[in-house]
Amino acid sequence: MGHVIAIDGPAGAGKSTVARRLAERLGFTFIDSGAMYRAVALWALREAVPLDDAHRLEQLANAAAIDLLPHNRVHLNGEDVSEAIRTPEVTAAASRVAAIGGVRAALVAKQQRMAEASNVVMEGRDIGTVVFPHARVKIFLDADAVERVRRRAGEQPHVPSEQLAAQIAERDERDRSRAQSPLIQAPDAVYLDSTRLTLEQVEEEILRIVRSRISNGKES
Ligand code: DC
Repeated sequence: MGHVIAIDGPAGAGKSTVARRLAERLGFTFIDSGAMYRAVALWALREAVPLDDAHRLEQLANAAAIDLLPHNRVHLNGEDVSEAIRTPEVTAAASRVAAIGGVRAALVAKQQRMAEASNVVMEGRDIGTVVFPHARVKIFLDADAVERVRRRAGEQPHVPSEQLAAQIAERDERDRSRAQSPLIQAPDAVYLDSTRLTLEQVEEEILRIVRSRISNGKES
């Protein structure tokens, strides 16, 4: 088992960007666990599997060959779906399939295997609570709702910001209130509010925490 840096938090808090940069700086593998839920959601939409059919969704999650490749590329069953998993339809569907326990169990097992052979920075909603409860470094990255909408608006300039705000609020509510592995801060995670911080400041702060918790030669 390698070192694990777990970064959890709501949509738009800046997890992906900072996790990717940290992984680069540390020479760790970056793992975007949300991309895996998105890949299962995409497959379900394509197969017209109802998003409340827990049994079939669990089968898809178990059968899915999901490869997270360098430069943000995501392959599903050998096909490059990197762009296809970022549409608003898939975003909404991912939050629904992520509420299903059987889907989570399948993907959590895949995530745990990914950290067997290398050091990872993994971001998601339940990485510090469920996937790697013993991770040496856990960060709960947050930002206030207005700021999170503003950041998403920068990434999706064509979507009206009221619509973005409504989508983020709905997704947050579902991610935080679901019965299975809801988004919550692990008791031993460091809470970091990025609302008034630059990306560089967030990165430096997390690096400081990493240095204080991971000393040479010790395992996570
Ligand atoms: O981070 P993201 O927006 O790509 O995640 C897509 C959805 O997947 C999101 O609604 C929450 C869910 N998710 C999850 O439940 N657990 C994770 N570890 C990662 C994402």
